[in-house]
Order: sequence, then structure tokens, then C-alpha cells
Amino acid sequence: MLKLPIHYLKKLPKSSLRNYCAELGVQHNIFNRFKKDDYTNITDRVMYHMNKNLHLKNNHPLSIVRQRIVNYFNKTFVIRNNPVFSVYDQLPPIVTVDQNFDSLLVPTNHPSRNKSDCYYINRNYLLRAHMTAHQMDILKTGLNNFLIIGDVYRRDEIDKTHYPVFHQIDAVRLKDSKDFFPDNDHFQIFEASDDAESIRGQEKQPCHTIEAVKIMEEELKSTLEGLAKSLFGEKIEFQWVDTHFPFTQPSWELEILHNGQWLETLGCGIMKQSILTSAGVTDKIGWAFGLGLERISMCLYKIPDIRLFWSKDSGFLNQFDLDNINSNITYKAVSQFPQCKNDISFWLPESKEFSSNDFYDLVRNVGGDLIEQVKLVDKFVHPKSKKVSHCYRIIYRHMEKTLTQKEVNIVHKEIEKNIRNQLGVTIR
Ligand code: DAH
Repeated sequence: MLKLPIHYLKKLPKSSLRNYCAELGVQHNIFNRFKKDDYTNITDRVMYHMNKNLHLKNNHPLSIVRQRIVNYFNKTFVIRNNPVFSVYDQLPPIVTVDQNFDSLLVPTNHPSRNKSDCYYINRNYLLRAHMTAHQMDILKTGLNNFLIIGDVYRRDEIDKTHYPVFHQIDAVRLKDSKDFFPDNDHFQIFEASDDAESIRGQEKQPCHTIEAVKIMEEELKSTLEGLAKSLFGEKIEFQWVDTHFPFTQPSWELEILHNGQWLETLGCGIMKQSILTSAGVTDKIGWAFGLGLERISMCLYKIPDIRLFWSKDSGFLNQFDLDNINSNITYKAVSQFPQCKNDISFWLPESKEFSSNDFYDLVRNVGGDLIEQVKLVDKFVHPKSKKVSHCYRIIYRHMEKTLTQKEVNIVHKEIEKNIRNQLGVTIR
């Protein structure tokens, strides 16, 4: 069921490009198990990235950062010399809509559920958009401290920091009243009476006592500040920003100062009590967070392009063959091959909806990792016909060789053909 345009590869000269793309022959038989429906929008290109487990690969920068973070938790939280946090790092990425959204109280009209933002297998299943999707199932096993690590999938724009697959670590830590002060029988984590569901925002949830929330906030923030320092060094500058997640309240983001810019690195908060209640946990309060491994790894090693994480080039991977995973290394560009730019202009279909993310996915599905960036450079509404036209600039660059204009033209033509057929646009 390989739908990819292998025929156009035949026209290419013998090259690493062909070898690279031919790997797409490895397909997953997802649709033997799942029925397609009007929600199905997962692409071959994205399926090809499943089960690669970069976060577990020896000497891979994502794996090194994962190990450093797990080590930090194992060192920071110990009981009788044993690490407290359990680690789940091999959970398969296909989850239900309930796991990814409903169980986490994501409202039914929340934009993160949109077809244009997620890779749906069908109405009921999708590729997890965050590792938090497994939180409920693990809570139900009765664990109090755990890390969930793996690949997550989101439809997004195309540039050097966005890729449809990336990796996250999520964490949960629960405490009962005895865990706060073992010698104090009177410490309360719950208010005697509460008005059940909470209001949005930074206020504490009504069911919690202010003391319990403040102590949890302090432990959460100092744990994450300690993590940032253990990765980036004692001098790292950071700031806390109030935010909102459907599954925590209050909620914060941790930003670090990198190259003079504040970069959001993680989201966290005090877990919504109703999630714990649904999991059968009635006597504990929890904190949780989720962070992206690519973002941290790119800052730490100065990796300039997110596509590099998928490189099989030894020039990239050998640089992370470290004797000591805590070494402070800086990635050195193997070489920068030149870019090729091609523009594409088309009239949007009049009888069909058009989303830029559909276009980006199609470009990526045909061009794969040759695509460095796609930018909307011009929008135009015809004064008479009111037809809308978009012009996108596609920047092609191979990570390991110089692309010729001829090679790029073949891919570009294939993109034109595919968008005409699949998105119903009219090329100008
Ligand atoms: N799932 C969130 C995301 O992908 C990150 C996150 C925020 C995870 C708060 C959590 C949390 O567990 O408590 O953006």
C-alpha cells in the first residue's frame, strides 16, 4: 500500500537521495487493525517515523538528554537508596481520543482536538499529541511517582524547529497528608468542604488547602529549577510564567534564557483533583509536568535544525558518542549544503475547505526531509471573482549533499500534481 511517488525516484540519478526515500518502503499496517473514516488524516510519511525510538538509541542526543533527566530524578527522589520514580518509555503511540483528551478534561471544543492539529487514524484513535495521554492509565495502576517518555505527533508548520514527530517526558508525583509531615497527624491537604469543580486560572482548586498547594508548588518549582541547572549549569537564567492547561490548576511554564531569548521549555501544575478521583485516587494531591526533548537538546548542544535528530549520518551521530553523558559538547555542523528555493502559487478551492496544515503535510509527505521550510509569502483576493490565492515558498535542502535544481524540480512537480489532485487547488 505504498502510496508514495516512488516512480519519481526512478527518474533520479543514483544517489543517497534515492536510498533515503526508498526506505519509505517500510510501511506499517495500521489499517489492517483500524478502519479509516472521515477523520483519517495520518500520512505515510508520519507512519514511517513510528517505532523509531530515537529516545532509546545509544549515543543519540535525545537519548542522552533523556538519561540525564531520568538520572536527575533518580538522584533527587530516593527512599532507602532506591529511586522513587518509575519510568515508562516504550508505550505505543496509538491512543484513544479518551486517553489523549477526555480523560484529561480537555473540552470537546478545544482547538487542540482539531483534525488540522492532530494525526487521526480515525474518529476514535490518533497518534498521541502529548505523553500526558498515558497519565490516567498509569494513575489507575496505583503508582505515585512516574515518568512517561516517548514520541508525540502534531501537525504544524515547517521550519527548523518544528517537526511532526518529537519527544516528550511527562511526570507525575502524588503525596498524601502523611508524606508532607510524617510526624504531624493534623496536616490537611483537603478543605473540609469544597464547591467541587474549580474556576479557571491561577487560583488554587477549591478542594485543596492553601498550605498543601503552596508546599506542592514549591517542590514542583524547585525540582524543575534544579533540573534546568543540572542540564544547563548553575548560571542558567529562568523565569516562571502563569499559564493554563485543562489538566492542572494552577499551571506554569518555565522559560529559560537562550541566546538572549526567552524559550518556553516545559508546562506544569497542580493536577486537577477530578482526574485523580476518576483514577480512584482519593487521598492524594499531585503535581505534573511535560517537557520537550528536542527543544532542550537543541539548546544544550546548539543543534541548528530539528531534522538532524533523524539523520543517520555518522558525521552527526558520532559527535554524541560520549564517554560521559554529562559532557558539555557543542555540535559542529558537518557542512551546510546550499538551499534551493521554489515558489508555488495556487487558487484555493471554492467548494472545499483548505487548511495550511493540509498543504504542509502534503509537501512533507512528498518531499520528506528535503523540505527545510515552507512559508506563506503572499495572500491575494481577486477583486472581482473574490477567489483567494496563496503563494508559498518551499525551501529545499538535503542534510548530507548538494541538491541540484533538476532534482528539486522533480520533487516540486510532484508536489504540484499532488496538491492539485488531493487539495483541489488550481496552480497559477
Ligand atoms: N501536555 C502538555 C503539552 O504537551 C505539557 C504538560 C503540561 C504536561 C502540564 C503535564 C502538565 O503533565 O501537568 O504541552
